[in-house]
Amino acid sequence: TTPTQKLLVNGKDFTLDADPNMPVLWALRDILGFTGTKFGCGAGLCGACTIHVDGSPMRGCLTTLKQVQGKQVTTIEGLEAQKLKQAWLTHNVPQCGYCQAGQLMSAAALLKTTATPTDAQIDDAMSGNICRCGTYPRIKAAIKSVSE
Ligand code: FES
Repeated sequence: TTPTQKLLVNGKDFTLDADPNMPVLWALRDILGFTGTKFGCGAGLCGACTIHVDGSPMRGCLTTLKQVQGKQVTTIEGLEAQKLKQAWLTHNVPQCGYCQAGQLMSAAALLKTTATPTDAQIDDAMSGNICRCGTYPRIKAAIKSVSE
């Protein structure tokens, strides 16, 4: 029999029959239907799968169910950063859009710890999120527009 795993996502408890070593990304997308979090590379290189674990940005493709037992997982569906999301729209950030959930999760995590990030802090926090459309200047402008 498959072991039972508990998962707390966006404030709701879920119980699933899954291997404890399953990546959280798989459980979110394929079992629970939280498809806002994207699969890009599956190897920790692109940031499309970025989620928050107890408020910190993590790679959903490299984080296992076992590692998040008893912790709070937040996905783009549960992200409450309204000002940031509005700035994304105002600055027309997305092009194809595929990487943008991950971009928003990283940006929101940065602004939670650093209300007024410098350019270097933005570059550092966002360096793990790749965008093939090259929306980086708009991402930066959107982040700066909500920093206090
Ligand atoms: Fe996880 Fe690319 S899918 S970093």
